[in-house]
Amino acid sequence: MLRFDDRVAIITGAGHGLGRSHALLLAERGAKVVVNDLGGALDGTGASTGPAAEVAELITKNGGQAIASTDNVATPEGARAIVKSAVDAFGKVDIVINNAGILRDKSLGKMTVEDFDNVLAVHVRGSFLVSQAAYPHMKEAGYGRVVNTSSPAGLFGNFGQANYSTAKMGLVGLTKTIGIEGARNGIKANAIAPIAWTRMTEALLPAEFEAKFTPERISALVAYLVHESCEVSGEVFSVGGGRVARVFVAEGPGWKTDDLTPETIADHWDEVMAEQPYVQSATESMQRML
Ligand code: NAI
Repeated sequence: MLRFDDRVAIITGAGHGLGRSHALLLAERGAKVVVNDLGGALDGTGASTGPAAEVAELITKNGGQAIASTDNVATPEGARAIVKSAVDAFGKVDIVINNAGILRDKSLGKMTVEDFDNVLAVHVRGSFLVSQAAYPHMKEAGYGRVVNTSSPAGLFGNFGQANYSTAKMGLVGLTKTIGIEGARNGIKANAIAPIAWTRMTEALLPAEFEAKFTPERISALVAYLVHESCEVSGEVFSVGGGRVARVFVAEGPGWKTDDLTPETIADHWDEVMAEQPYVQSATESMQRML
């Protein structure tokens, strides 16, 4: 069994849904958990101490160790306070699971700047700020695990989610860069793109999904990715309904010429669009250009 004894985990947005399930699983397996949740509505408005406190109490009642935090991940002070809670209560931070999220769905023409900025603030800025605040502690320990929560909507696009999909693809870049920068200090970062039945999706998914697409089926992968035995970093995994699959960003072999004009590009469009053999890093891509 993969256990987390003596590990300290921060889980943001852990008052409901996926984060709650991650918190319960890690605590059950020995982790000391900071259950962070602002406790607002799905669109990010309002706040309540209830959800974080309830999950922390449930963990304690079950014999685990947890504290509640109601700080906002989207502000530098909030992110610093979350990490400080972990260090004050448990002495360190080994694991950060950036899971807090909100929705403000609207089609492109109707989306306000506020809808766009607020969604990016929670998902992207929040994940950046909490990871950054935890980073010095992980660096000093020479150990860390970060999981960011992306989405199929970000990887593949989705109607009515210009803000959310931008944020969720942004998290792929953040994950890969933390993975690269953290490598020399034993810090690994990966992202998940989940599908699960939560308050965020219950109005969108067919009713028969509830039993199959459980949050627990997402937490199993998250626990694997934040365990010390996990060797991958900078990866993205699609997960839901009991299936896990690697998602990768790749570049096709491309077409190269000394005579690149709009017309020669049009003439060689099939080669431009070809997928195999693909390239998977910026370095490899540069080598092909050279
Ligand atoms: P949820 O609404 O149940 O959980 C999100 C939690 O984040 C809430 O408890 C909320 O209070 C908290 N939160 C929101 N803003 C916060 C802030 N500024 N600071 C601290 N906490 C804050 O929804 P769910 O489904 O559990 O979502 C978890 C994550 O998974 C989100 O990032 C979501 O975008 C992502 N996701 C979920 C999918 C699904 O199928 N449920 C699909 C793809 C991604």
